[in-house]
Amino acid sequence: MVNYSLQGKTALVTGGTRGIGAAIVAKLLAAGATVVTTSRTPVDNLPAGVHYVQADLGTPEGATVAAEETLTHFDGKLDILVNNVASGQAYPAGTATIPDEAWQSSLNTSFLSSVWVTQRLLANLVTAKGAIVNISSAVTLDVVPPLAHYAAAKAALERYSLTLAAELAPQGVRLNVVIPGNVATPGGDKVRQDLADGFGIPVEAMTAGTPLGRAGIPTDIAEAVGFLVSDQAEWITGSQLLVDGGAAVGLAA
Ligand SMILES: NC(=O)c1ccc[n+]([C@@H]2O[C@H](COP(=O)([O-])OP(=O)(O)OC[C@H]3O[C@@H](n4cnc5c(N)ncnc54)[C@H](OP(=O)(O)O)[C@@H]3O)[C@@H](O)[C@H]2O)c1
Repeated sequence: MVNYSLQGKTALVTGGTRGIGAAIVAKLLAAGATVVTTSRTPVDNLPAGVHYVQADLGTPEGATVAAEETLTHFDGKLDILVNNVASGQAYPAGTATIPDEAWQSSLNTSFLSSVWVTQRLLANLVTAKGAIVNISSAVTLDVVPPLAHYAAAKAALERYSLTLAAELAPQGVRLNVVIPGNVATPGGDKVRQDLADGFGIPVEAMTAGTPLGRAGIPTDIAEAVGFLVSDQAEWITGSQLLVDGGAAVGLAA
């Protein structure tokens, strides 16, 4: 059920071949947008009409390819950017065991990819008075030593996002952050399994006790993103929307 329309809008969703990104692609399509998405590995099950770009966004060169192909496809008009790409391997023995390469890769993929892609598309988003959503992680609200590198990258993404939101508001571009909790996706499930194995606990324990009674599913996040990029959210910018089934409230209680 869609109670707003993105008809006529163009959107780039990074990392839309599976998990949360795929749900965001589906949501924006259902609302009427035309969509470009990216990943490193091509897939054969993208919804009809989605234009696919193969690019490693963990490199500035990959971000350039993604941005240029998106602008070519849309003839320079871009209304919506969703920076969804990230990846993070867990190091259950803790922060001190995270190797240099993992820190660098995490910063590149889970933070700088969003900076690089946004930078290359900003002029077009300003022209369109567009909307940006950056996907962070509720790991920034907790202390999780095996994911220190990933949490640091996402914390950087959140601070960068607030700064850019303030700069872009006078130009009519809105930028919001969505902060997912535990969501069942290939990437999220692997991290939780590695953490559970490292801690010697069942993987179910990683999501047990979520106040709203279940782990998240990708459409939980896509619904929030769809609203934030729609005109219904025209007075919302610089927000950080936590979508976690109440898990952070549970921590605080
Ligand atoms: N799932 C969760 O529990 C959870 C919780 C909090 C936050 N999040 C955030 O939600 C977002 C999506 O996560 P997810 O769980 O849906 O992840 P996922 O299942 O691993 O999917 C990640 C997507 O990004 C692409 N990708 C990864 N690295 C890339 C790179 N270097 N260049 C280009 N594309 C790349 C993947 O395709 P390729 O591998 O083929 O490149 C895939 O399409 C991420 O920002 C993540 O931090 C997820």
